[in-house]
Amino acid sequence: MSDNLSFSAVLRVQRLQPLIGAEVSGLDLREPLSAAHREQIRALLLRHKVLVFRDQPIDRQQHLAFAAEFGAVYDHPTTAKPEGAQPGIDLISAVEARRRVKKLQYGAWHTDTSWDVRPVLGGILRAIHVPEVGGDTVWVDAAQVYAGLPDDLKETIDRLHLVHDHHKALQQAGVNQPIVAHPLVRTHPETGETVLYANFLQNPSILGWEPAASEALLERLRREVTRPEFQVRVSWRKDSIVFWDNRATLHYAVQNYGDFPRVMERVLVASDDIPHRKVATPA
Ligand code: SIN
Repeated sequence: MSDNLSFSAVLRVQRLQPLIGAEVSGLDLREPLSAAHREQIRALLLRHKVLVFRDQPIDRQQHLAFAAEFGAVYDHPTTAKPEGAQPGIDLISAVEARRRVKKLQYGAWHTDTSWDVRPVLGGILRAIHVPEVGGDTVWVDAAQVYAGLPDDLKETIDRLHLVHDHHKALQQAGVNQPIVAHPLVRTHPETGETVLYANFLQNPSILGWEPAASEALLERLRREVTRPEFQVRVSWRKDSIVFWDNRATLHYAVQNYGDFPRVMERVLVASDDIPHRKVATPA
C-alpha cells in the first residue's frame, strides 16, 4: 500500500500510522462537500478509521452540516450541551467532567453510545480550547486488536456478549431504556472486518459470567487494547477536526493537562446497525 493516496487534485491524504489514522487536507469544511468528496471521505474513513483535518475554523452549523453528510445527527441524551447550541452539539469539557467526576485522573478506553441498541457510526470532534501540549486523544484499531489476539482468547470471546450499563445516567436524564448487551466480537457492517467491540467505561461485564471471571477477562482485553502498534495519537490544535469510525475503534482521552479548561465540541453520526457477528455458515 502506498503511503500517500491522492483521490483528486485537491484532496491530499497523509497516513499518520501504518495501520490507523490519516490527515486529510485540501478541503474547506466551511463549504458543503461535493458528492465526490463525500464519497472519498467515506472511503477514507473505512480505510483509515480516524481522519484528521487541520485548520478548519468551522462554526456549529458547519460542524452539524459536515456530520449530516454521513448520516443523521445523533442527539446524545446524557452528554452536556453548550449553552444556546443547536440539538446534536455535545460539549466535551474538562470543567464539566471534573464537576461530575471529582478526581479526574485517567481516561478510559471506550466507544461512544455502546449502551444504545444502535450505537453511532462515528464521531466528529472539534477542538475549541486546547492546551499547548497535552490533552491528546488516542484511537486504537479494534479490528487489528482482534486479529492480534491469540487463538485461545479469540475462541473464548467469540460468542460472548458484553453488558454496556449506562442505566443510571440515562435514568437521571429521563431516558428509560433496557440495559443492552452486545456481542464482544462484532462484524463491521460496511467493511466486514471482525472487531473487538468493548467499552471499558460503562460498567462493562461479560453477560452470564461471575464478576471476578468477567473482570479478569476484561483486564486481559484492556491490555490488548493498549498495544501502541494498533494506535494513533492525535495532538490537538485549535480548529482541528477528527472524524472517527466508532464501529471500528476505541478511543481514550489523555488527562494530563491539570486544571486547563479544555473544551471540545462533538457531533455524532447515527447508525441503523445493531452490532452483530456474522459467522460463516457451513457450505
Ligand atoms: C470522546 O470521548 O468522545 C471525546 C474524546 C476527547 O475529549 O478527546
